Amino acid sequence: MIEYTLAIIKPDAIKRHLIGKIISRLEENQFTIEEMKLQHLKIPDAQSFYHMHKEKPFFSSLCAFMTSYPVVLMVLSKENAIEELRKLMGATDPKAAAPNTIRKEFALNVEQNSIHGSDSKDSARREIAFFFLDFAETHSLVY
Ligand code: RTP
Ligand code: MG
Repeated sequence: MIEYTLAIIKPDAIKRHLIGKIISRLEENQFTIEEMKLQHLKIPDAQSFYHMHKEKPFFSSLCAFMTSYPVVLMVLSKENAIEELRKLMGATDPKAAAPNTIRKEFALNVEQNSIHGSDSKDSARREIAFFFLDFAETHSLVY
């Protein structure tokens, strides 16, 4: 089934001019870019987007990092896109990421890990609506 997922190219990757390389990896793996924008998130955006982590010790550092520089926000589509993107990203900590994953290749550490991908259908629906409300409404995101 064709699914939609939200991807974010994180500030560490933007700073190191890796947008093109990361998008190439996505396209080589047959992800279609449905929507895309560059945006400099504000603290309340990051706090709201990552609200499920608000009790975690890394929350304030994560929000500071995600607002430290612009990000690229994308809606991607592909057969089984949510799981496929998580596989292509690799583990949260690049030291634990499998070979040939985006995080293994590009991430700096467990926080500055270059890319985000929705982790479930519910997350994808919420995250796409968070940044691309028109797209979410038009596509009603029923899988
Ligand atoms: P993401 O949500 O960004 O796709 O990453 P994920 O599912 O692999 O990891 P998650 O547990 O949801 O954590 C969200 C982001 O918080 C930062 N983090 N820092 N210092 C730490 O131990 C730590 N753990 C997580 C990372 O930027 C992670 O992607
Ligand atoms: Mg996550």
